[in-house]
Amino acid sequence: MSVSLIVLAAGRGTRMNSDLPKVLHPLGAAPLLHHALQAGQSLDPAQIVVVAGYGAAMVEKAARAYDASIEIVLQAKQLGTGHAVAQAAPLLASAAGNAIVLFGDTPFVRTETLHAMLDARARHAVVVLGFEAADPGRYGRLVVTGDHLERIVEYNDASDEERAITLCNSGVICAETSVLFDLVSKLGTANAAGEYYLTDIIALARERGLSAGVVKCDEAETLGVNTRAELAAAETAFQARMRAEALENGVTLADPATTYFALDTVIGRDSSIGPNVVFGPRVTVESGVEIKAFCHLEGCHISRGATVGPFARLRPGTELAEDVHVGNFVEIKNTVLAEGVKVGHLTYLGDAHVGEHTNIGAGTITCNYDGVNKHRTEIGPRAFIGSNTMLIAPVTVGRDAMTASGSVITNSVPAEALAIARTKQSNKAGLAVKLLDMFTRIKAERQKDRL
Ligand code: UD1
Ligand code: CA
Repeated sequence: MSVSLIVLAAGRGTRMNSDLPKVLHPLGAAPLLHHALQAGQSLDPAQIVVVAGYGAAMVEKAARAYDASIEIVLQAKQLGTGHAVAQAAPLLASAAGNAIVLFGDTPFVRTETLHAMLDARARHAVVVLGFEAADPGRYGRLVVTGDHLERIVEYNDASDEERAITLCNSGVICAETSVLFDLVSKLGTANAAGEYYLTDIIALARERGLSAGVVKCDEAETLGVNTRAELAAAETAFQARMRAEALENGVTLADPATTYFALDTVIGRDSSIGPNVVFGPRVTVESGVEIKAFCHLEGCHISRGATVGPFARLRPGTELAEDVHVGNFVEIKNTVLAEGVKVGHLTYLGDAHVGEHTNIGAGTITCNYDGVNKHRTEIGPRAFIGSNTMLIAPVTVGRDAMTASGSVITNSVPAEALAIARTKQSNKAGLAVKLLDMFTRIKAERQKDRL
């Protein structure tokens, strides 16, 4: 049966104390919203509707960046979670099958858990994801008799007896799409908050003789982010999970507590990561790669057998082919290094293509920016770029060519040629000693004057 997702993301998240909508605060270098979407995406949903409100234009952009087919609906006023779900009704009017409601600020719900909820639909018309809370705090409480969920009581509306219940509402709800919208259309606001509570659909369902049930998950899965402190705690939990997964997948982490992952980081088996390595968004690393200590990587692809670092920075658009070596204090941006290229030390390569087995000497810089425009540098295969070469782009160095150390290359270098672009050296006999004598004398005279 097909499934659609409704992701609630209209709230401002007042307690974040931020101009940025809560669901756009980053966790693992990706907006919180992307985490919620990722769990649902694995169900191969027919439609995904994100309910946006505060900062809707930004939320829409972030949602579309995740998946261009996501639909956005505006909830102009945040009148409650039930009202938010109702806004999605027109977009899902003809959707068959089940709908799952997710919260954009709840990043850790697992796909397996959502599958368990879909399975439970065989027994219940409405399925709620619940958890046993160590500290139930202000969560909604699940009132259960046997296998049946009778109703959900919000904290503010609960009696002392109900507040003593430790089985809590995660917010995730699953029902047949038409049933869900029918129920939310009947919601009222007669409660402590004066809001349309999504949670009230359980009592409405039961009144109609529909069955409701609970699927339980671990409390860690339902962790919601409401404050910066909770965001920091979520980051810690996220990193712990990613580290454990990497180790499980056959990646060596020299000091796991200091490896930082992004939501979409992919690392192949038998790769090894040194201490203090940070993965920003969109990094893929093949098998058998070694990344040494203190590297910062984002938007790059590293192929089998490559070695990177220590202290390397790979920026977006960097592509390292097999067996490339990038050493210390090297920055690379929007550049492809073909197989076997070596860039050992102290180099900046930007907007360049470097052919296979070329060696880039220490201190090489592609001068790619003229203050207004960016220009490209093309270096052929098996070339040898001498130490401290400045390559003033746009410029081309042909295959099997060389540049002399300290050259400032402004014109293209033909294949197999040696380019020398520096002033010729001349030696003045005895001048070093004469100069030193002179300087020493001048200094002594100055000191005498001061006395
Ligand atoms: C909700 C549940 C509560 C549950 C808790 C779990 C209700 C009435 N209560 O309470 O039972 O224990 O989550 O974290 O559902 N949102 C909108 N539009 C709105 C209101 C909310 O899009 O008008 C979105 C928020 O952006 C957020 C999510 O819905 O992503 C949850 O809203 P929130 O106000 O945080 O609900 P809680 O009070 O935490
Ligand atoms: Ca909340």
